[in-house]
Amino acid sequence: MTTIRAVAIGTGHYLPERVVENSEFAECLDTTDEWIRTRSGIERRHFAAEGELTSDLALKASTMALADAGITAQDIDAIVLATSTPDQTFPSTATKLQHALGMTKGFAFDIQAVCAGFLYALANAQALIVSGQAKRVLVVGAETFSRIMDWTDRSTCVLFGDGAGALILEAQSQPGTSDDDGILSSCLHSDGTYNDLLYVDGGVSSTQTTGVLKMQGREVFKHAVSKLAEAGEEVLDAAGLTADDVDWVVPHQANLRIIASTARKVGIPMDRVVVTVQNHGNTSAASIPLALSVARQNGQIKPDQLLLMEAIGGGLAWGAALMRWSKA
Ligand code: UT7
Repeated sequence: MTTIRAVAIGTGHYLPERVVENSEFAECLDTTDEWIRTRSGIERRHFAAEGELTSDLALKASTMALADAGITAQDIDAIVLATSTPDQTFPSTATKLQHALGMTKGFAFDIQAVCAGFLYALANAQALIVSGQAKRVLVVGAETFSRIMDWTDRSTCVLFGDGAGALILEAQSQPGTSDDDGILSSCLHSDGTYNDLLYVDGGVSSTQTTGVLKMQGREVFKHAVSKLAEAGEEVLDAAGLTADDVDWVVPHQANLRIIASTARKVGIPMDRVVVTVQNHGNTSAASIPLALSVARQNGQIKPDQLLLMEAIGGGLAWGAALMRWSKA
């Protein structure tokens, strides 16, 4: 029986110009390039320039995604933008992006689920498409985490970077099998019991300040591998597929050891895992669409391939999605 699927038709990404190598941190903190590389896999990250906002990064990634899809902003019905580092408390960064794109119809809103934000945005965009509320949705992850770093805390400030990624989803009628193009299954989870493992110590209603990021890295690490592997298996089961069917895992790019341990647990070799963390560190909600766009640009992801995406972050909030890249 035919069904409406949310099918990807374009990707884009943007990294700010300023590149910061691990060696720069070693000059002002008790750390080394060797420690950062071996414990996280990160070699460098990009930081936004002064005055360069999350919406600026989002605009560049979105412009590239629109060109890749061969459409204009007027062809988009909705923007769902995931960020934990918005330009302002309100209005939403999504509406700022909408305005910057010159899009005067449709609707735009932000989603906040930290590093899992893109998967939350993707699931919401899929729901808008499947319910018939939107035909084409621009899904964006954009962050300026350099604005919420404690530069004296070596256990966090070396891990994060700024960037943006974008994906355009389109409603398409598909046969209704696991061979369909588009999103085949997705799952979202959160457990606020773990709020204190990863948080920012400021906020509008608490301190009226922005605050800085605090993380119990080792604890987050432990939860990450088991929860990500379970979420991966959940979306494969839901689609009636197995790890052998997956062409590429496109994981949240936080730590190479988490990526490798999770892939091993799900039973997928590392030569089928997209890894970009070395070049931009943890860009939170931007990380999956960024990796997706880079992997398409360098020819890794090809038509008809099956992609498994998974992410976890503050909340804790986590999830996974299974998507087949378009056959055409
Ligand atoms: O995207 C959201 C989700 N976040 C994550 O996925 C992050 C999850 N966690 C991690 O990626 C890892 O736990 C880290 C990369 C944050 C840390 O790696 P680890 O192997 O878990 O190290 P650790 O926290 O157990 O620390 C080991 C040692 C400690 O020293 P002692 O107590 O053993 O003497 C730290 O003080 O490494 C020390 N350390 C550092 N040393 C040099 C912590 N940060 C640094 C540093 N340079 N930058």
